[in-house]
Amino acid sequence: MNSNRLTESPVLPWKPKILLFIATLITNLSRRPNGTINRRLLNLLDLKTPPTNKPIQGIKTVDITIDATRNLWFRLFIPTKTLPDIILPVIIFFHGGGFAYLSPNFSHYDKVCRRFAKEIPAVIVSVNYRLLPEHRYPSQYNDGFDTLKFLDERKPDEFPANADLSLCFLAGDSAGGNLAHHVACRAGKGGFREVRVIGQISIQPFFGGEERTESELRLKKVPIVSVELTDWLWKAFLPEGENRDHEVVNVMGPRAVDIKGVKYPETMVVVGGFDPLQDRQREFYEWLKRSGKEVKLIQYPNAVHAFYVFPEIPEANQFMMEVRDFVHKVSAKFMK
Ligand SMILES: *[C@@H]1O[C@H](CO)[C@@H](O)[C@H](O)[C@H]1NC(C)=O
Ligand SMILES: *[C@@H]1O[C@H](CO)[C@@H](O)[C@H](O)[C@H]1NC(C)=O
Ligand SMILES: *[C@@H]1O[C@H](CO)[C@@H](O)[C@H](O)[C@H]1NC(C)=O
Repeated sequence: MNSNRLTESPVLPWKPKILLFIATLITNLSRRPNGTINRRLLNLLDLKTPPTNKPIQGIKTVDITIDATRNLWFRLFIPTKTLPDIILPVIIFFHGGGFAYLSPNFSHYDKVCRRFAKEIPAVIVSVNYRLLPEHRYPSQYNDGFDTLKFLDERKPDEFPANADLSLCFLAGDSAGGNLAHHVACRAGKGGFREVRVIGQISIQPFFGGEERTESELRLKKVPIVSVELTDWLWKAFLPEGENRDHEVVNVMGPRAVDIKGVKYPETMVVVGGFDPLQDRQREFYEWLKRSGKEVKLIQYPNAVHAFYVFPEIPEANQFMMEVRDFVHKVSAKFMK
Protein backbone atom coordinates (compact mmCIF):
# COMPACT_ATOMS: atom_id res chain seq x y z
CA MET A 1 0.00 0.00 0.00
CA ASN A 2 2.71 2.42 1.04
CA SER A 3 4.99 1.91 -1.95
CA ASN A 4 1.92 2.10 -4.14
CA ARG A 5 1.10 5.46 -2.59
CA LEU A 6 4.60 6.74 -3.25
CA THR A 7 4.27 6.14 -6.96
CA GLU A 8 1.08 8.23 -6.86
CA SER A 9 3.11 11.35 -6.04
CA PRO A 10 4.54 13.30 -8.94
CA VAL A 11 8.25 14.15 -9.12
CA LEU A 12 8.68 17.89 -9.73
CA PRO A 13 11.58 20.36 -10.01
CA TRP A 14 11.88 22.37 -6.78
CA LYS A 15 10.55 25.69 -8.06
CA PRO A 16 7.20 24.46 -9.42
CA LYS A 17 6.97 22.17 -6.41
CA ILE A 18 7.19 25.05 -3.92
CA LEU A 19 4.92 27.34 -5.94
CA LEU A 20 2.30 24.62 -6.34
CA PHE A 21 2.44 23.89 -2.62
CA ILE A 22 1.89 27.57 -1.78
CA ALA A 23 -0.91 27.83 -4.35
CA THR A 24 -2.61 24.75 -2.87
CA LEU A 25 -2.27 26.11 0.65
CA ILE A 26 -3.64 29.56 -0.22
CA THR A 27 -6.49 28.03 -2.19
CA ASN A 28 -7.35 25.91 0.85
CA LEU A 29 -7.07 28.71 3.39
CA SER A 30 -8.87 31.39 1.41
CA ARG A 31 -12.14 29.46 1.10
CA ARG A 32 -14.42 30.25 4.00
CA PRO A 33 -17.03 27.77 5.27
CA ASN A 34 -19.79 30.30 4.51
CA GLY A 35 -18.96 30.09 0.80
CA THR A 36 -17.01 33.34 0.43
CA ILE A 37 -13.34 33.80 -0.51
CA ASN A 38 -10.83 35.81 1.48
CA ARG A 39 -9.26 37.76 -1.37
CA ARG A 40 -6.98 39.71 0.96
CA LEU A 41 -5.14 36.50 1.66
CA LEU A 42 -4.60 36.03 -2.07
CA ASN A 43 -3.17 39.51 -2.40
CA LEU A 44 -0.46 38.57 0.07
CA LEU A 45 1.08 36.69 -2.81
CA ASP A 46 1.74 39.76 -4.90
CA LEU A 47 2.57 38.16 -8.20
CA LYS A 48 1.04 40.70 -10.53
CA THR A 49 2.64 41.96 -13.74
CA PRO A 50 1.62 45.32 -15.24
CA PRO A 51 1.26 45.71 -19.03
CA THR A 52 4.47 46.74 -20.82
CA ASN A 53 4.33 49.12 -23.72
CA LYS A 54 8.05 48.59 -24.25
CA PRO A 55 8.51 45.14 -25.82
CA ILE A 56 10.06 42.44 -23.66
CA GLN A 57 11.56 39.65 -25.76
CA GLY A 58 9.68 40.96 -28.76
CA ILE A 59 6.24 41.11 -27.11
CA LYS A 60 4.42 44.22 -25.94
CA THR A 61 1.23 44.19 -23.90
CA VAL A 62 -1.67 46.53 -23.28
CA ASP A 63 -4.81 46.18 -21.13
CA ILE A 64 -8.06 47.03 -22.93
CA THR A 65 -11.38 47.58 -21.18
CA ILE A 66 -14.55 46.14 -22.71
CA ASP A 67 -17.06 46.96 -19.96
CA ALA A 68 -15.91 48.74 -16.80
CA THR A 69 -19.20 48.10 -14.97
CA ARG A 70 -18.36 44.39 -14.74
CA ASN A 71 -14.55 44.81 -14.83
CA LEU A 72 -14.41 43.00 -18.17
CA TRP A 73 -11.04 43.65 -19.82
CA PHE A 74 -8.33 41.78 -21.61
CA ARG A 75 -4.57 41.89 -21.89
CA LEU A 76 -3.42 42.02 -25.49
CA PHE A 77 -0.04 40.42 -26.33
CA ILE A 78 1.45 41.74 -29.55
CA PRO A 79 4.54 40.29 -31.25
CA THR A 80 6.66 43.23 -32.44
CA LYS A 81 9.40 41.40 -34.28
CA THR A 82 7.41 39.49 -36.90
CA LEU A 83 7.55 40.75 -40.49
CA PRO A 84 4.46 42.79 -41.46
CA ASP A 85 3.55 40.34 -44.25
CA ILE A 86 3.24 37.43 -41.78
CA ILE A 87 -0.40 36.79 -40.93
CA LEU A 88 -0.94 36.36 -37.18
CA PRO A 89 -3.73 34.14 -35.85
CA VAL A 90 -5.63 35.43 -32.79
CA ILE A 91 -5.89 33.31 -29.65
CA ILE A 92 -8.58 34.18 -27.11
CA PHE A 93 -7.24 32.81 -23.85
CA PHE A 94 -9.17 32.04 -20.64
CA HIS A 95 -7.04 31.54 -17.55
CA GLY A 96 -7.70 28.81 -15.00
CA GLY A 97 -8.36 29.09 -11.27
CA GLY A 98 -11.64 27.26 -10.73
CA PHE A 99 -13.64 30.28 -11.98
CA ALA A 100 -12.75 31.80 -8.59
CA TYR A 101 -9.08 32.77 -8.67
CA LEU A 102 -6.42 34.60 -10.69
CA SER A 103 -6.47 37.00 -13.62
CA PRO A 104 -4.53 37.84 -16.81
CA ASN A 105 -2.15 40.03 -14.79
CA PHE A 106 -1.10 37.12 -12.57
CA SER A 107 2.58 36.74 -13.44
CA HIS A 108 2.49 33.07 -14.47
CA TYR A 109 -0.38 33.70 -16.86
CA ASP A 110 1.28 36.83 -18.19
CA LYS A 111 4.41 34.80 -18.90
CA VAL A 112 2.65 31.86 -20.49
CA CYS A 113 0.72 34.16 -22.83
CA ARG A 114 3.99 35.88 -23.76
CA ARG A 115 5.39 32.48 -24.64
CA PHE A 116 2.36 31.66 -26.82
CA ALA A 117 2.65 35.04 -28.56
CA LYS A 118 6.33 34.54 -29.25
CA GLU A 119 6.55 30.84 -30.06
CA ILE A 120 3.55 30.55 -32.40
CA PRO A 121 3.67 33.62 -33.19
CA ALA A 122 0.15 34.95 -32.56
CA VAL A 123 -1.78 37.81 -31.02
CA ILE A 124 -3.11 36.73 -27.62
CA VAL A 125 -6.25 38.14 -25.99
CA SER A 126 -6.19 37.08 -22.31
CA VAL A 127 -9.63 37.73 -20.79
CA ASN A 128 -10.44 39.03 -17.31
CA TYR A 129 -13.86 37.48 -16.72
CA ARG A 130 -15.96 37.74 -13.55
CA LEU A 131 -15.20 35.36 -10.69
CA LEU A 132 -16.91 33.21 -8.09
CA PRO A 133 -18.48 33.34 -5.63
CA GLU A 134 -19.44 36.98 -6.26
CA HIS A 135 -20.60 36.05 -9.78
CA ARG A 136 -22.13 32.70 -10.61
CA TYR A 137 -22.57 30.92 -13.93
CA PRO A 138 -23.31 32.12 -16.62
CA SER A 139 -21.42 35.43 -15.97
CA GLN A 140 -18.13 33.78 -16.98
CA TYR A 141 -19.52 32.41 -20.25
CA ASN A 142 -21.20 35.73 -21.06
CA ASP A 143 -17.94 37.61 -20.48
CA GLY A 144 -16.09 35.15 -22.72
CA PHE A 145 -18.59 35.42 -25.53
CA ASP A 146 -18.86 39.21 -25.22
CA THR A 147 -15.11 39.43 -25.73
CA LEU A 148 -15.53 37.79 -29.14
CA LYS A 149 -18.37 40.15 -29.98
CA PHE A 150 -16.28 43.14 -28.92
CA LEU A 151 -13.41 42.09 -31.19
CA ASP A 152 -15.86 41.59 -34.03
CA GLU A 153 -17.58 44.94 -33.65
CA ARG A 154 -14.98 47.31 -32.25
CA LYS A 155 -11.55 45.94 -33.02
CA PRO A 156 -9.21 48.10 -30.87
CA ASP A 157 -6.69 50.43 -32.51
CA GLU A 158 -3.89 48.55 -30.80
CA PHE A 159 -4.67 45.46 -32.87
CA PRO A 160 -1.80 44.95 -35.35
CA ALA A 161 -2.75 45.17 -39.02
CA ASN A 162 -1.45 41.67 -39.73
CA ALA A 163 -3.64 40.00 -37.06
CA ASP A 164 -6.41 38.00 -38.74
CA LEU A 165 -9.70 37.55 -36.87
CA SER A 166 -10.82 34.95 -39.38
CA LEU A 167 -8.11 32.75 -37.83
CA CYS A 168 -9.35 32.74 -34.22
CA PHE A 169 -8.57 30.06 -31.66
CA LEU A 170 -10.15 29.62 -28.25
CA ALA A 171 -7.78 28.43 -25.55
CA GLY A 172 -8.05 27.85 -21.84
CA ASP A 173 -6.72 25.76 -19.02
CA SER A 174 -8.75 24.17 -16.24
CA ALA A 175 -11.84 26.36 -15.66
CA GLY A 176 -10.69 28.34 -18.70
CA GLY A 177 -10.94 25.13 -20.73
CA ASN A 178 -14.54 24.66 -19.62
CA LEU A 179 -15.20 28.30 -20.51
CA ALA A 180 -13.61 27.91 -23.97
CA HIS A 181 -15.84 24.91 -24.72
CA HIS A 182 -19.03 26.81 -23.88
CA VAL A 183 -17.93 29.89 -25.81
CA ALA A 184 -17.10 27.62 -28.78
CA CYS A 185 -20.63 26.17 -28.71
CA ARG A 186 -22.16 29.65 -28.61
CA ALA A 187 -19.85 30.97 -31.33
CA GLY A 188 -20.86 27.97 -33.49
CA LYS A 189 -24.25 29.60 -33.96
CA GLY A 190 -22.56 32.31 -36.05
CA GLY A 191 -23.51 35.98 -36.25
CA PHE A 192 -20.00 37.39 -36.60
CA ARG A 193 -18.72 39.65 -39.34
CA GLU A 194 -14.99 39.11 -39.02
CA VAL A 195 -14.42 36.63 -36.21
CA ARG A 196 -14.22 32.99 -37.27
CA VAL A 197 -13.33 30.42 -34.59
CA ILE A 198 -11.32 27.69 -36.32
CA GLY A 199 -9.57 25.91 -33.45
CA GLN A 200 -9.63 25.17 -29.74
CA ILE A 201 -6.78 24.43 -27.36
CA SER A 202 -8.34 22.67 -24.39
CA ILE A 203 -5.71 22.43 -21.65
CA GLN A 204 -6.65 20.12 -18.75
CA PRO A 205 -10.25 21.40 -18.87
CA PHE A 206 -12.34 21.45 -15.69
CA PHE A 207 -15.46 19.30 -15.86
CA GLY A 208 -17.33 17.56 -13.05
CA GLY A 209 -20.11 15.15 -12.20
CA GLU A 210 -21.91 13.58 -9.27
CA GLU A 211 -20.21 10.21 -9.57
CA ARG A 212 -16.52 10.13 -8.59
CA THR A 213 -14.13 8.95 -11.27
CA GLU A 214 -11.27 6.51 -10.71
CA SER A 215 -8.60 9.25 -11.05
CA GLU A 216 -10.42 11.53 -8.59
CA LEU A 217 -10.46 8.77 -6.00
CA ARG A 218 -6.89 7.58 -6.60
CA LEU A 219 -4.87 10.81 -6.90
CA LYS A 220 -4.96 12.35 -3.43
CA LYS A 221 -1.34 13.49 -3.11
CA VAL A 222 -1.15 15.89 -5.99
CA PRO A 223 -1.03 19.70 -6.10
CA ILE A 224 -4.09 21.98 -6.27
CA VAL A 225 -6.96 19.69 -7.26
CA SER A 226 -8.93 17.78 -4.62
CA VAL A 227 -12.57 16.67 -4.65
CA GLU A 228 -13.09 18.82 -1.59
CA LEU A 229 -12.02 21.88 -3.62
CA THR A 230 -13.87 21.00 -6.81
CA ASP A 231 -17.13 20.25 -4.92
CA TRP A 232 -16.87 23.69 -3.26
CA LEU A 233 -16.25 25.43 -6.58
CA TRP A 234 -19.13 23.76 -8.44
CA LYS A 235 -21.47 24.58 -5.58
CA ALA A 236 -20.49 28.26 -5.84
CA PHE A 237 -20.71 28.16 -9.64
CA LEU A 238 -24.10 26.53 -10.21
CA PRO A 239 -27.55 27.94 -9.46
CA GLU A 240 -28.63 27.17 -5.92
CA GLY A 241 -29.88 23.60 -5.52
CA GLU A 242 -28.33 22.29 -8.76
CA ASN A 243 -26.04 19.26 -8.74
CA ARG A 244 -22.82 18.47 -10.59
CA ASP A 245 -24.58 16.60 -13.38
CA HIS A 246 -25.72 19.99 -14.67
CA GLU A 247 -25.14 20.21 -18.43
CA VAL A 248 -22.39 22.83 -18.20
CA VAL A 249 -20.39 20.84 -15.61
CA ASN A 250 -20.89 17.25 -16.74
CA VAL A 251 -21.03 18.22 -20.41
CA MET A 252 -20.81 14.59 -21.56
CA GLY A 253 -22.95 13.22 -18.71
CA PRO A 254 -26.57 12.14 -18.28
CA ARG A 255 -27.91 15.62 -19.16
CA ALA A 256 -25.50 16.28 -22.03
CA VAL A 257 -26.57 18.73 -24.72
CA ASP A 258 -26.41 17.20 -28.20
CA ILE A 259 -23.78 19.17 -30.16
CA LYS A 260 -23.78 17.00 -33.28
CA GLY A 261 -25.40 19.82 -35.28
CA VAL A 262 -23.24 22.58 -33.79
CA LYS A 263 -20.38 24.01 -35.84
CA TYR A 264 -17.48 23.25 -33.52
CA PRO A 265 -13.79 24.07 -34.01
CA GLU A 266 -11.04 21.49 -34.46
CA THR A 267 -9.72 20.77 -30.97
CA MET A 268 -6.69 19.50 -29.10
CA VAL A 269 -7.30 18.18 -25.57
CA VAL A 270 -4.30 18.07 -23.23
CA VAL A 271 -4.27 15.61 -20.32
CA GLY A 272 -1.80 14.98 -17.48
CA GLY A 273 -1.30 11.62 -15.75
CA PHE A 274 -1.14 13.19 -12.26
CA ASP A 275 -4.28 15.27 -12.70
CA PRO A 276 -7.35 13.98 -10.82
CA LEU A 277 -9.48 15.56 -13.58
CA GLN A 278 -7.94 13.39 -16.31
CA ASP A 279 -10.71 10.74 -16.55
CA ARG A 280 -13.31 13.39 -17.29
CA GLN A 281 -11.01 15.05 -19.82
CA ARG A 282 -10.65 11.78 -21.70
CA GLU A 283 -14.44 11.37 -21.55
CA PHE A 284 -14.75 14.87 -22.99
CA TYR A 285 -12.43 13.88 -25.85
CA GLU A 286 -14.43 10.66 -26.51
CA TRP A 287 -17.70 12.60 -26.42
CA LEU A 288 -16.42 15.17 -28.95
CA LYS A 289 -15.35 12.31 -31.22
CA ARG A 290 -18.74 10.60 -30.88
CA SER A 291 -20.38 13.93 -31.70
CA GLY A 292 -18.48 13.96 -34.99
CA LYS A 293 -15.94 16.67 -34.09
CA GLU A 294 -12.30 16.79 -35.13
CA VAL A 295 -10.29 16.32 -31.97
CA LYS A 296 -6.95 14.96 -30.87
CA LEU A 297 -5.81 13.86 -27.44
CA ILE A 298 -2.34 14.72 -26.11
CA GLN A 299 -1.29 12.93 -22.95
CA TYR A 300 1.66 13.60 -20.68
CA PRO A 301 1.87 10.73 -18.16
CA ASN A 302 4.00 12.63 -15.62
CA ALA A 303 2.21 15.98 -15.80
CA VAL A 304 0.34 17.53 -12.85
CA HIS A 305 -2.54 20.00 -13.10
CA ALA A 306 -1.22 23.37 -14.39
CA PHE A 307 2.17 21.87 -15.38
CA TYR A 308 2.35 23.96 -18.54
CA VAL A 309 2.81 27.34 -16.81
CA PHE A 310 6.18 26.17 -15.45
CA PRO A 311 8.96 26.24 -18.07
CA GLU A 312 11.09 24.22 -15.61
CA ILE A 313 8.85 21.20 -16.32
CA PRO A 314 10.07 19.50 -19.53
CA GLU A 315 6.53 18.69 -20.71
CA ALA A 316 5.74 22.42 -20.70
CA ASN A 317 8.11 22.87 -23.63
CA GLN A 318 6.81 19.83 -25.50
CA PHE A 319 3.34 21.25 -24.97
CA MET A 320 4.33 24.64 -26.42
CA MET A 321 5.62 22.93 -29.59
CA GLU A 322 2.37 20.94 -29.88
CA VAL A 323 0.33 24.12 -29.66
CA ARG A 324 2.49 25.84 -32.24
CA ASP A 325 2.13 22.92 -34.68
CA PHE A 326 -1.61 22.70 -34.09
CA VAL A 327 -2.17 26.42 -34.70
CA HIS A 328 -0.05 26.34 -37.87
CA LYS A 329 -1.74 23.21 -39.20
CA VAL A 330 -5.31 24.42 -38.56
CA SER A 331 -4.59 27.99 -39.79
CA ALA A 332 -3.14 26.63 -43.05
CA LYS A 333 -6.49 24.96 -43.81
CA PHE A 334 -8.28 28.31 -43.58
CA MET A 335 -5.78 30.77 -45.05
CA LYS A 336 -7.02 32.63 -48.08
C1 LIG B 1 -5.58 21.26 0.78
O1 LIG B 1 -6.84 20.62 0.98
C2 LIG B 1 -6.91 19.27 0.52
C3 LIG B 1 -8.35 18.79 0.68
O2 LIG B 1 -8.84 19.02 1.95
C4 LIG B 1 -5.92 18.43 1.31
O3 LIG B 1 -5.95 17.09 0.84
C5 LIG B 1 -4.52 18.99 1.09
O4 LIG B 1 -3.59 18.27 1.88
C6 LIG B 1 -4.47 20.47 1.48
N1 LIG B 1 -3.13 20.95 1.10
C7 LIG B 1 -2.54 21.98 1.68
C8 LIG B 1 -1.15 22.31 1.24
O5 LIG B 1 -3.09 22.67 2.50
C1 LIG C 1 -18.46 35.06 5.66
O1 LIG C 1 -17.46 35.07 6.67
C2 LIG C 1 -16.59 36.20 6.66
C3 LIG C 1 -15.49 36.00 7.70
O2 LIG C 1 -15.89 35.25 8.76
C4 LIG C 1 -17.42 37.47 6.93
O3 LIG C 1 -16.58 38.60 6.94
C5 LIG C 1 -18.45 37.58 5.81
O4 LIG C 1 -19.26 38.72 6.04
C6 LIG C 1 -19.32 36.34 5.73
N1 LIG C 1 -20.16 36.46 4.54
C7 LIG C 1 -21.41 35.99 4.48
C8 LIG C 1 -22.15 36.22 3.20
O5 LIG C 1 -21.94 35.41 5.41
C1 LIG D 1 -5.01 42.74 -11.74
O1 LIG D 1 -6.33 42.49 -12.22
C2 LIG D 1 -7.33 42.49 -11.21
C3 LIG D 1 -8.65 42.07 -11.85
O2 LIG D 1 -9.13 43.06 -12.73
C4 LIG D 1 -7.40 43.86 -10.55
O3 LIG D 1 -8.34 43.83 -9.49
C5 LIG D 1 -6.03 44.24 -10.01
O4 LIG D 1 -6.06 45.56 -9.54
C6 LIG D 1 -4.96 44.12 -11.09
N1 LIG D 1 -3.66 44.35 -10.46
C7 LIG D 1 -2.69 45.03 -11.03
C8 LIG D 1 -1.45 45.21 -10.24
O5 LIG D 1 -2.78 45.48 -12.16
